[in-house]
Amino acid sequence: MPGNRFGDIRWLHSVDSTNRYLLDEARAGAPEGVVAVADHQEAGRGRLGRRWEAPPGANLLCSILLRPDLPVASRHLLSTVVALAAADACQAVAGVTPVFKWPNDLLAADGRKLAGVLAEADAPGRPGLPASVVVGIGVNVGWPGSDADLPAELVGRATSLSQEAGRPVERESLLADLLVSLEPRVTALGTAAGRSAQADELRRRCATVGARVRIQLANGSFDGTATGVTDEGHLVVATPSGTRTVVAGDVVHLRPAEERDLPSAPGGRVTSE
Ligand code: BTN
Repeated sequence: MPGNRFGDIRWLHSVDSTNRYLLDEARAGAPEGVVAVADHQEAGRGRLGRRWEAPPGANLLCSILLRPDLPVASRHLLSTVVALAAADACQAVAGVTPVFKWPNDLLAADGRKLAGVLAEADAPGRPGLPASVVVGIGVNVGWPGSDADLPAELVGRATSLSQEAGRPVERESLLADLLVSLEPRVTALGTAAGRSAQADELRRRCATVGARVRIQLANGSFDGTATGVTDEGHLVVATPSGTRTVVAGDVVHLRPAEERDLPSAPGGRVTSE
């Protein structure tokens, strides 16, 4: 891909996890821009320690190595730009316009999940090498074909681009478009104005903003109304006891009938203002 930093695309038949593969490559000195794609993952990783499952050859399972030159506090935006680029590609290739659920899920218009993002940072690597972050994304392209393909716990909660578009969608085209859209977005992260523009795009496309939410943290949960996204990509939530900024956590969009106790999930960081 001339003029694009994502020229080294490694298409793997089978791997445990493309994130794990690229983190190892990063430790060994691989440069920014290496992309790992897998037909199949034997131990695909999801957020909060969950598994990410997909049948062989059906979905886009890829990870991208970035060596960001941006403040640590803004690192969340690395996942954001990958999610924004994936949304652009879904529109261009399948005619499907996803909405965002904070932090970086892509949803179909009816709220079913189309894609998820998992960023993993390397421990300080070799001296002289910039720190690395591997951003992995799984996009449901051909699977699930319908609810009948899903395990009971995912029925009504996951969909695919092919299902939404009503026709087959190619993983290869989706990846190519994603990387074209990602190139200028990664460049934009190098300046405060560019970071603000990327955060603004997330803000405008994010169904979480304006929603009643339950924020699930390692040590419990709280309810509130999501009122915005900061320029670092963090979620701002208004609660009866004040405004809180969520750096990392799991979000449930609440409907009125659901505003009662739900089991809390692990993970999450929050600051109060
Ligand atoms: C989520 O839980 O929503 C995030 C899922 C991220 C899955 C992708 S698939 C490619 C990459 N490799 C992994 O092991 N996980 C990510």
